[in-house]
Amino acid sequence: MTVASVPGKAILFGEHAVVYGRPAIAVPVWEIAAQAEVLDNPGAAPGSLLVEAPAIDLAGELAALDPSHPLPRIILDTLYALGVEHPPPLRLRVTSTIPMASGLGSGAAVSVAVARALSQHLGCPLEPSRESALAFAVERIHHGTPSGVDNTVVAYGLPVYFRRDNPPVPFRVGAPLHLVLGDTGIPSATSVAVGGVRERWRENPAAYERRFDAIGAIVNEARGRIESGRIADLGPLMNRNHVLLQEIGVSSPVLDALVRAAIEAGAWGAKLSGAGMGGTMLALAPKDRMDAVRAALTRAGAARTITTQVGE
Ligand code: PMV
Repeated sequence: MTVASVPGKAILFGEHAVVYGRPAIAVPVWEIAAQAEVLDNPGAAPGSLLVEAPAIDLAGELAALDPSHPLPRIILDTLYALGVEHPPPLRLRVTSTIPMASGLGSGAAVSVAVARALSQHLGCPLEPSRESALAFAVERIHHGTPSGVDNTVVAYGLPVYFRRDNPPVPFRVGAPLHLVLGDTGIPSATSVAVGGVRERWRENPAAYERRFDAIGAIVNEARGRIESGRIADLGPLMNRNHVLLQEIGVSSPVLDALVRAAIEAGAWGAKLSGAGMGGTMLALAPKDRMDAVRAALTRAGAARTITTQVGE
């Protein structure tokens, strides 16, 4: 049996503007993961590939599943990329602890886990760049104009400085970052949030380009502070990034309430993370304030909280 486990992700800075060519910084979140298991199924007919994904109620023979659905699609694309025309009979089981439609990279992590487990099981493991490209093709069907940041950070499993159409740049984390993620529990489709920004950008391109530039400048400033270990100084940058995300219309009263609660509980800074509208926010806090921030988020209505550390 071959098992691949791929982390969730959080965007620290730069979501949405990254769709318009500005940089973003994203990190893997190892406390949540998608897992794919592949095993031989010797009794089954030649060419059989039995797929099971209980969380999305999907089970059946690959050949009988809708090929435009993301899961069959990543399986077919991976087999095609590997040049395997007649795989041995297989079973593939997919599970995930990453909440779906929450800005935590669930779709990309599932795709990368499937590509990794299948390619390793068939004896031709893929480089992270190829896994990422396969996952990106699937993201495109469902999200329209994804930047590629999600598939990149989960495939590499490293903090990355990302610019669309460029290879990711791993960077040094000078001192550990302690993050609390607060999930609103309100599902948010990335395509809807990204589509809304595009509509408003079309109506007023100059104002939106200015905000994207401001976000890009924050990302570059943040990278320097992360590399030199000036972690507390990231707080004000997060808060400014959140205000710009409010201005482009992707925050919500619940996200704003969680951001406020985190700061009142002693976080250095907080912002929504991912597509927004619902989904997830994150707070950066001194280590000894993590529990207080977590409790404050729960009191303010977070459906769940996740703590994670980046670096060391
Ligand atoms: O899918 P999410 O919620 O992690 O959002 C991805 C980040 C966006 O910048 C909003 C979209 C993208 O493709 O980069």
